[in-house]
Amino acid sequence: MAAVATSNMDSLEKSLCDFSGAASLDQRFRSLFTIKGLAATSDEHMQRAIAIISAAFSDDSALLKHELAYVLGQLEDVRALPTLKRVLQDKSQDAMVRHEAAEAMGAISDPSVLPVLQEYLTDADVSVRETCELAISKINFDNSAEGKALKQAKAQAKQAEEQSGLGGVESAFKPIDPAPAMTPAASKEAAQAQANGVQYDASQVPLFRDTLLDTKLSLFERYRAMFALRNVAHAGGEGAVQAVLALAQGLKDGSALFRHEICFVFGELCHPASIPSMVEVLNDANEHEMVRHEAAEALGGIVEEGQEDSDAKNADFTLVMDTLKKWANDVGAPRVVRESCVVALDELAYNNDPTQFHRIETTASA
Ligand SMILES: [Fe+2]
Ligand SMILES: [Fe+2]
Repeated sequence: MAAVATSNMDSLEKSLCDFSGAASLDQRFRSLFTIKGLAATSDEHMQRAIAIISAAFSDDSALLKHELAYVLGQLEDVRALPTLKRVLQDKSQDAMVRHEAAEAMGAISDPSVLPVLQEYLTDADVSVRETCELAISKINFDNSAEGKALKQAKAQAKQAEEQSGLGGVESAFKPIDPAPAMTPAASKEAAQAQANGVQYDASQVPLFRDTLLDTKLSLFERYRAMFALRNVAHAGGEGAVQAVLALAQGLKDGSALFRHEICFVFGELCHPASIPSMVEVLNDANEHEMVRHEAAEALGGIVEEGQEDSDAKNADFTLVMDTLKKWANDVGAPRVVRESCVVALDELAYNNDPTQFHRIETTASA
């Protein structure tokens, strides 16, 4: 079985590291996420995955490279740090890729990277500077009493899930947020409740929204409110739409990094109420390309929920499809926006084709 998985890694490497342009970008994205999945299966695969993903930085697509950095962070393995440091330090790399490398260093959360992150607090690119600030805050938080309590509570919740046989797979793939979600009260009990995912509801939306929109607060605190609103929306019920609309208000913020993260959260939520704002962002030629890229990806994920039969939902589907097609084919649009739309359209096709779904599943587990 290990041999099968290894040869699978070989073919995935060929696909991901095909710099000739022969392999399509969406196929290479799928290879990347399959490699990520396999990395979790053994230490040997983890090392191999880090090596393959590190080698793929020779590519010239900023979109692909920022995703490589993201995945390296999500692997949560310190052996990915040398590559991430190199990418952050390489000023010839696109700012979006360097930003993602700094964020990934925060995700891995090893204090040894603090001096490097501090060095880039004065980088020429504002998104890189802000990401370093966030990553430093996250690493410091993770090592504080509150952060340690949260980590412990999460580990306990995960163990309980695994023992009960519920949600083990899902929690294994939960992404690491760039800032921990805010809680109404910072305490050990709140941390426990947060880890169990039980305490978010509509009544907290005003508090989290006010924090999100308060530009006097640090970016880290405002990100914490953002992920708290994400959790309210994720909990469903009457708070979901309120939380989505509160998040959308943040799209008028002065920081492109902040706006791109809201789009990213919308991509996680796939909530129909976010469609109008994501279409508006993608259509705005004056918006930062990193923000438009995240809006395109968010639209690529939304349709799964929009397929149920109703005229309003079908109209949403058509609007999403038309907007993505328009920008995928617009030669005047930034490359990263065009490529994001191509990948998002592939995701739409994938979400709408049950036979494709089976094909991918079989390949990934072979
Ligand atoms: Fe990002
Ligand atoms: Fe992204």
